[in-house]
Amino acid sequence: MSIPLKKIFTTTKTPIWLMRQAGRYLPEYREVRKNVKNFLEMCYDPELTTEITLQPIRRFNLDAAIIFSDILVIPDALGVGVSFKENIGPVVTKITKFSEIPEFNEKKFLAHLSPIYQAITKTKSSLPKGVPLIGFIGAPWTVSTYLFEGGGSKAFNLVKQASYTKPEEFQKIIDCLVTASIIHLKEQIKAGADIVQIFDSWAGILDHENFVKWVIEPTVKIISAIKQEYPNIPIIGFPKGAGVLYKQYIEKTKIDIIGLDSNIPSSWITENIGVNTIVQGFLDPIYLLLDDKKKLACEIEKILYTLKNYDHIFNLGHGILPNTPLENVEFLIKTIREYEK
Ligand code: CP3
Repeated sequence: MSIPLKKIFTTTKTPIWLMRQAGRYLPEYREVRKNVKNFLEMCYDPELTTEITLQPIRRFNLDAAIIFSDILVIPDALGVGVSFKENIGPVVTKITKFSEIPEFNEKKFLAHLSPIYQAITKTKSSLPKGVPLIGFIGAPWTVSTYLFEGGGSKAFNLVKQASYTKPEEFQKIIDCLVTASIIHLKEQIKAGADIVQIFDSWAGILDHENFVKWVIEPTVKIISAIKQEYPNIPIIGFPKGAGVLYKQYIEKTKIDIIGLDSNIPSSWITENIGVNTIVQGFLDPIYLLLDDKKKLACEIEKILYTLKNYDHIFNLGHGILPNTPLENVEFLIKTIREYEK
């Protein structure tokens, strides 16, 4: 194991944080949000970013904070138009080929993202001692889906067609996103991020060959560049929906921590993932919507039991849902902290 869990977290219990822990399910987030016109404005305001990042820590005393930002700040900083529309989600200027992305200018890119680095430094100085701060990027594949589809998608026809049929052209776009990702991650670490996560939310839509080419290979390049400069910064990989390909992802990328989604059967995890890999996950966020606390407790304990021989960071299999009751989050944390391993 490269980095022991005890070096990352101070708690002796299973550490816990939640994807999208700063978000719309929190009344204090909605209060800040209602005074801001568009979502990206919040991401580039160090005061607001710091405040929102700290909200779930204050309320729930979670074991890690994640900087409030978005995976789409990279295309935004590259000069591809990004906006967030209420009830629609992200809207991105559609790309069909590499030449449609403005020429990369590192200075401009960093200037655009500098409020995020300021927010990281500011957040670090306000966090309770021993609470690590997580920085993140969207993996090149997942970011490219937003570029080709012009936002979110259900079928991903455009990005799949481009990547399967014009791999050389597509490679140029992925390479550009790899370069941007490495720079953005290094700057986040320089500013104070203690851990970084690579969100590959749409890893699960590719066939095997293309998963290797567009998910594993770019991730290997990013990890190798980060490890060269920052060997002791733990990296979390989250190739959501990878299914059986999780095994190859772990082996090829040598990721420190693997984020599991809710689809993987427990028996598959224990048979295919070695106990030397730190695992993160993987409660289905739907369970946090239920009134039935018994069912919720049962699902939490099932995960803790399955992963009892692993170094385990408790998390959800995907982001927390906006209509999650606060009392269920409190119950989740209490259940985990009272659980005897
Ligand atoms: O986890 C955290 O608390 C940190 C903040 C964070 C956000 N987005 C804030 C956000 C993180 C880590 C992300 C990652 C992200 N963003 C991903 C990867 C994880 C995943 O969910 O699969 C993706 C695909 C995005 C792109 C994105 N951003 C979408 C599709 C949307 C719209 C859908 C939605 O949930 O509204 C966003 C907007 C967004 N990013 C919100 C938040 C809190 C909601 C915006 C609002 O308040 O209006």
